[in-house]
Amino acid sequence: MTDQSQASRATTVFPAGFRWGAATAAHQIEGGNWNNDWWAWEHTAGSAATVPSGDACGSWEHWRGDVELCRRLGLDHYRFSLEWSRIEPEEGLWSAAAMGHYRDQCQALLDAGIEPVVTLHHFTTPRWVAARGGWEEPETARRFAAYCERATAELAPVLRRVCTLNEPNIVAVGGYLAGTFPPGRRDVEARRRANAVLAEAHRLAVDAVRAGAPGVPVGLTLAMSAYEPVDGGEAKLAQIRHRMEDEFLAATGGDDFLGVQAYSRTRVGPQGAVAPDPGARLVETMGYEFWPWALEATVRRAWEVTAGGLPILVTENGIAADDDATRIEYVSEALAGLARCLDDGIDVLGYTYWTLLDNFEWALGYRPRFGLATVDPTTFERALKPSGHWFAEVVRANGPVPAAG
Ligand code: GCO
Repeated sequence: MTDQSQASRATTVFPAGFRWGAATAAHQIEGGNWNNDWWAWEHTAGSAATVPSGDACGSWEHWRGDVELCRRLGLDHYRFSLEWSRIEPEEGLWSAAAMGHYRDQCQALLDAGIEPVVTLHHFTTPRWVAARGGWEEPETARRFAAYCERATAELAPVLRRVCTLNEPNIVAVGGYLAGTFPPGRRDVEARRRANAVLAEAHRLAVDAVRAGAPGVPVGLTLAMSAYEPVDGGEAKLAQIRHRMEDEFLAATGGDDFLGVQAYSRTRVGPQGAVAPDPGARLVETMGYEFWPWALEATVRRAWEVTAGGLPILVTENGIAADDDATRIEYVSEALAGLARCLDDGIDVLGYTYWTLLDNFEWALGYRPRFGLATVDPTTFERALKPSGHWFAEVVRANGPVPAAG
């Protein structure tokens, strides 16, 4: 690590060509995504979902406003997801209208000089797939790959980078062990089966994308955490992290990049994860610690576990904060850690802020506000927050800049 003071770090300039982006996901912003397992989960009495996604940010109709926000931010890329249940509403039934919608969105981004980074599955699964066993059913891996090949073949001319599965580890642990995601299972063996099916689905999807869109970089995006043992929790930490990270990192061999997504840390004692200490600084609406240093820790671990074999794109990092100063503080610290990773030779392609718009935060509904922009729930008017304007400055400066004022 170069011997730079913390103060000079605040004005770190990232390497030329470092990529700056923002991310969203179909179900969290489009609205009206009724034909998937999450919509059903939101309308299931007693499920962990507190509010329905409903109209979300209205992005199915107002996506050109999202592209305009990306242009105003000066972004190099915009990561968003395709909704499988719109493209293939029933097995083998392909929607030309939905495909055309996503093709138009990709083309509009390209016309604005912004690289589309397309995620093929971001937590939501078509009802017809969920009804046939979902991610416990090995056949789902093949069904997913068939969708990936069809979607990428049709969109190939406007694709520049593809993420197969968003956080398969969360899909498995949330849906099959914690009961917080659909189908709401709490079964250790079911979670292990889901891990295996999702890892296989990624492998088949990589082959499918390379068949559908030859030459387009493809990889996985993984939720990672800065795991730390407390009071002799080392063995338990290794057990938890194996299921949460290593099983999926092992499935990325031969990919073109790895998407790292990190927000906070997880402290692990002999019995499992432990709550933050009393008085610890929290991200109130998410319930986890304010820990921007997780980004450096997870990028370093991903690089180490993959033996430096995969370029890393930070595909999600951000904070749910009602005040912009906290968001600016968090991102500045996270970027300082990322700069230290680059100083140590880790191949980090870019940074993608989660998220462009305040949106539907899954089981927590709309209360957590991660966005660089607000969305009026009635008019769907978008407005950049002060921290959004600050992020545009970061993009222009190619590195963190002091907060205005
Ligand atoms: C995730 C998902 C996003 C979340 C974001 C904030 O990582 O859980 O990819 O959909 O909204 O991470 O929690």
